[in-house]
Amino acid sequence: MHDNSPPPMPPLFTWEFASDPYPAYAWLREHAPVHRTALPSGVEAWLVTRYADARQALADQRLSKNPVHHSEAAHGKGKVGIPGERSANLMTHLLNIDPPDHTRLRRLVSKAFTPRRVAEFAPRVQELTDRLIDGFAGRGEADLIHEFAFPLPIYAICDMLGIPPEDQDDFRDWAGMMIRHGGGPRGGVARSVKRMRTYLAELIHRKREDLGDDLISGLIRASDHGEHLTENEAAAMAFILLFAGFETTVNLIGNGTYALLRNPGQRARLQDALAAGDEGLLATGVEELLRYDGPVELATWRFATRDLTIGGQRIAEGDPVLVVLAAADRDPERFADPDALDLSRSDNQHLGYGHGIHYCLGAPLARLEGRTALATLLRRLPDLRLSVDPEELRWRGGLIMRGLRTLPVAFSPEP
Ligand code: HEM
Repeated sequence: MHDNSPPPMPPLFTWEFASDPYPAYAWLREHAPVHRTALPSGVEAWLVTRYADARQALADQRLSKNPVHHSEAAHGKGKVGIPGERSANLMTHLLNIDPPDHTRLRRLVSKAFTPRRVAEFAPRVQELTDRLIDGFAGRGEADLIHEFAFPLPIYAICDMLGIPPEDQDDFRDWAGMMIRHGGGPRGGVARSVKRMRTYLAELIHRKREDLGDDLISGLIRASDHGEHLTENEAAAMAFILLFAGFETTVNLIGNGTYALLRNPGQRARLQDALAAGDEGLLATGVEELLRYDGPVELATWRFATRDLTIGGQRIAEGDPVLVVLAAADRDPERFADPDALDLSRSDNQHLGYGHGIHYCLGAPLARLEGRTALATLLRRLPDLRLSVDPEELRWRGGLIMRGLRTLPVAFSPEP
């Protein structure tokens, strides 16, 4: 007798799942590619795991980003979205709105957050990277999350926005609070977000009087040229740039370094290329690290504005849909040998930065930070190695982001 029933579904949202969700995602892609499940918060949502469905869903304008379209909007208050954003009145940001508001705000911020601004920022990112490595290079050991991956993006985005250096450590603390409690107690986070909002509103106010070269001044200037950005929208924009720009990049550096340490052959290739002055492999390599174990496990919330089907599955109006980027990016229908890390992978249209109108605005900055951080680490600490058993590492169990809590490493101290 032949048993045709599928193997049982691996559990979702457990500790085991957090450390390696890929077997569960392979199961879902194969047996239940559009799957309704209860999330840890109790909210029910559809998980979309195949690449073709995921890409289509990300670009589908019948799926709204605005939580008012959630069928549980009235009683599921506060359970979707970024912790604290409601109480701090920061809801009108890019990841919560649809066209035409989204089109207007995105056009505005794109005028200020230009590829040129990012390119000009490269020396500053290099300087920040070296300063952080200086802090531990002589010691022979470090926790790369706390001492490197976490502070780098927060200082970088604070600098770019024009937050004065003396206030940046407050942002570091607020950011730490958001990361630590992202999926946990919401009271402290809400307070923290409120304080951040008050600070940003005051800063925007001050900058209006005294415009500089920074991104917040750029936003204010852009809005003076015909289009309108309310104070609330400006604060929400600064907030989403901070929020979307830090934990993601922390995890690009953390997950990326970890993947390199676990794949010595690939890491050696990259080190050799860098030593020969060839940055090509670094560029394709950072893209591959995003595909292989990207920071954003699930794209942010989407809600069906009418009954529709995805991958043959009927979705009812008001249902939340979560596109599982991490699952789509390992889909064997799209990527050859998807579970292998190949830093020179060329056919690599991964969804790590999303797709469609909400495609990551900060991708050029993230790439700059990722490349600078990884290349500088490998150049300065060439014998970098994990100093604990990988089994001992703990992953954060948040819903949207995927990243390590700590990454203890050892290396020969710099003289
Ligand atoms: C949107 C990933 C870094 C700003 C997104 C989305 C993804 C993403 C997947 C789309 C979410 C969705 O459709 O639901 C990443 C990754 C990063 C990164 C993997 C790092 C490796 C950054 C940085 C910034 C940033 C550094 C800004 C400084 C944004 C903004 C949006 C966004 C503003 C919303 C765009 C819109 O809705 O139009 N990001 N991001 N991101 N990202 Fe990033």
